[in-house]
Amino acid sequence: MDYDIKDKGLADKGLERIEWADGFMPVLSQIRKHFKDEKPLKNLTIAACLHVTTETANLMRTLKEGGADVTLAASNPLSTQDDVASALVDRFDIPVFAIWGAEKDKYYSHIRSVLNHGHDITMDDGADLVSTLHKESPEELDKVIGGTEETTTGVIRLRAMAKEGVLGYPVIAVNDSMTKHFFDNRYGTGQSTIDGILRATNCLISGTNFVIAGYGWCGKGVAKRASGMGANVIVTEIDSVKAIEAAMDGFRVMQMKEAASIGDIFLTVTGNKWVIHRDIFLLMKDNAIVANSGHFNVEIKIEDLEDMSVSKREIRHNVTQFTLSDGKRINLLAEGRLVNLSCAEGHPAMVMDMSFANQAYAAVYLKENASNLEKKVYVIPEEIDRDIARVKLKTMNLKIDELTPAQRDYLNSWGEGT
Ligand code: ADE
Repeated sequence: MDYDIKDKGLADKGLERIEWADGFMPVLSQIRKHFKDEKPLKNLTIAACLHVTTETANLMRTLKEGGADVTLAASNPLSTQDDVASALVDRFDIPVFAIWGAEKDKYYSHIRSVLNHGHDITMDDGADLVSTLHKESPEELDKVIGGTEETTTGVIRLRAMAKEGVLGYPVIAVNDSMTKHFFDNRYGTGQSTIDGILRATNCLISGTNFVIAGYGWCGKGVAKRASGMGANVIVTEIDSVKAIEAAMDGFRVMQMKEAASIGDIFLTVTGNKWVIHRDIFLLMKDNAIVANSGHFNVEIKIEDLEDMSVSKREIRHNVTQFTLSDGKRINLLAEGRLVNLSCAEGHPAMVMDMSFANQAYAAVYLKENASNLEKKVYVIPEEIDRDIARVKLKTMNLKIDELTPAQRDYLNSWGEGT
């Protein structure tokens, strides 16, 4: 079996951590049992490019139990957990191409290795796999029955491809399932971002001015948690509706250039580029902390920071301290990459359970329906999404009310009024 990982000797530790996460992924475990009996993914090769975490390992095991031939590459050089990669290779015979800290060339060579193994289905987090396949091997596109995409950022890229007419096969936007973005983006990013900032800096959140750029589902999640820990949250936005939402949720809303001189901690979570740049760095206070939780490392313009600085040093693991000519220090976490996955372990298994249940069902859906799908971006059917919610609720021992026949009729009628 071909693979490229850091050290096969880390498998024991990786396995324990994978099993620990599995204990918080009851929906995915049930799917795995069902997949073992039914083999719904038999004869399919799945090329995956996801963060190599304990939760992803449980998804890979599930797809394999379903009969798929799966290979995995990392979707970010700093999110790879080397012990998990090792356990996947050594204990589950799943080829993995991922090493923490891989340089750009290595990162893409890993993606190519996964694609070379075969790809009836592509499974992506950020669309690097899909875009590499489209750019480098367009002749292969017709062989793909479909793809899945995990993140908001990836879905934006894929919709742009579909709009331009260049998307080569149908893709399911897993991100857009209710059981994905309502929970993973909000509670997952909310908690794991704070976790990453704390592990990297050990700073006190309470009493800080915590500036959050972007008030989408992820930004909302981080704002609530930072506020719950006593931070004075400031939100910056480019969307007028989201800005009103932030204001009515009780946060201060202002332009980044105004927030720049007030903030102690800055977090970008916009999905866009160059949200924090030279003019903003110049206004920052001494010792400001700057981090990103958006998918790509383009939200903070690091080139500007490099250019403005007279020196830099790694003052703590995952913290680069830049010193400007006037002596001001700016602390950048995880090279501007996803702080929640680089400085912590990503979203907790409890929310990834639903996200990855969607991934597993999306693969089956593609297998069963590919011939009826166009080269477009689709959302998973609502019955599947709601079914995942029903099972999750059951595993949480929560019961909800049911509509009575009279209520059902009422909802389907228009005759009754005042
Ligand atoms: N994205 C965010 N958190 C994650 C996790 N724990 N595993 C895989 N992908 C993730």
